[in-house]
Order: sequence, then structure tokens, then C-alpha cells
Amino acid sequence: MMKISPSILTADLANLEKEVRSLELAGADMIHIDVMDGVFVPNISIGLPVVKSLRSHSDMFFDVHIMIVNPEKYAERFVDAGADLLTFHYEAAEDPRSILESIRAKGKKAGISISPKTPAEKIFDLLPMCDVVLVMTVEPGFGGQRLIAEAAEKVAILKEEIKRRVLDTQIEVDGGVNKDNAEYLKSLGADILVAGSYVFGSSDRKSAIESLR
Ligand code: DX5
Ligand code: ZN
Repeated sequence: MMKISPSILTADLANLEKEVRSLELAGADMIHIDVMDGVFVPNISIGLPVVKSLRSHSDMFFDVHIMIVNPEKYAERFVDAGADLLTFHYEAAEDPRSILESIRAKGKKAGISISPKTPAEKIFDLLPMCDVVLVMTVEPGFGGQRLIAEAAEKVAILKEEIKRRVLDTQIEVDGGVNKDNAEYLKSLGADILVAGSYVFGSSDRKSAIESLR
């Protein structure tokens, strides 16, 4: 079954504990936490202390997506802060293989993300070390953008390669996901859908999550 990971980027950040609980009650499979540094992306969101505080208030699976430069420097610290899955950007990493290894060595799941302009083939050789590949379907930095169809097509390319290599890497799609494109993303091979503004913009979070599934 399709897993849904609502992004708290669009949540009421002054009431994060409440927001996370409401997503849990609405049937979310995990919580997507977007970390932005104002350098890799032109926006700043939240960081280590928030992940750490939230960890002590929730048992949900934390899907932490770091959009930062120097992921090698911070990946393990985000794991220590409470990430269950830590995903960093291929474009920002000097040695992605060693970052994936260091996350897995801590017993957590490791993911790599590619921005819309990065070809899927660039990460083929890293797939055996990835629990998750996150395909960005908007330019990272902001919620509420429209899904870029050409970026979504990389899901099918990655799915084929994952099957060819007989791996169990999951494909996560992030950016502009809503009830009108969820079915299409599923048909391409998505396993996990991230949704921020779609879930937070709906009056009934439970049915929003159900409609994505
Ligand atoms: C964008 C973030 C996304 C974002 C998704 O850089 O990585 O997770 O919050 O928001 P929507 O679903 O509104 O595109
Ligand atoms: Zn994200």
C-alpha cells in the first residue's frame, strides 16, 4: 500500500506537537520534516533542536529531508536528534556513499534525493545502499509549488533500475503532490508520497491522506 508522509513545512510551527499528533490520528504513515539552510535552497526552515524536541513528544517515524550544503557534516547529528530515515541531496554531497554508510551504521534508514534537473542515472550505482530514493518534483525550497511532470517521469526510470538490480529501495516523491496526480505517481512506481500544502490546505486531513492513498 502507498505510504503517505505529510510534510510539516506548511504546519503551524508554533504548535508542532499538536500538528504531528493530528497527522498521526489522520492516518499518516510517517512525518516528513524539511530542513533548509538558506544556502542549498533559498529558504530557511527548521533544524536539529526542533527535530530533537519533537522526538521526545512523538513516536512517529521521522522522515527527515535535509536540503543543506555539507550533508557529511550533519547527517549523523540528525540521526542522533531522532531521524528514522535521513535523506540528503546528491547535489550537495561530495561523497554520498560514505554518508549513506554512516547513516546505516547507526541503524537508521538512508535516503538520497535528486532535484528536478538531476538525471536519475547519476544515482544508479548508489541504489544498493539506499533504503529510499526521494525524487523532487519541484525545485526544493518551498511548499505549494506545482509538480513538474518531467521530474516525475524519473520515478519510472528508477523503478526499472531497482527491479533490474533486484533491490528493495523505495521511491518517495516530494513536491506538488495532490489527489489529482497521486494515481499517476503510483502508476510510475512511487512507494511513498510526501504532501505538504495539500494535506494542510484541506479541512479534513484524514480524507486528504486517504485520497492520496
Ligand atoms: C520542498 C519540500 C517539500 C514541501 C512539499 O522543498 O521538500 O517537502 O514541503 O510541499 P508541497 O506538498 O506543498 O509541495
Ligand atoms: Zn521534503
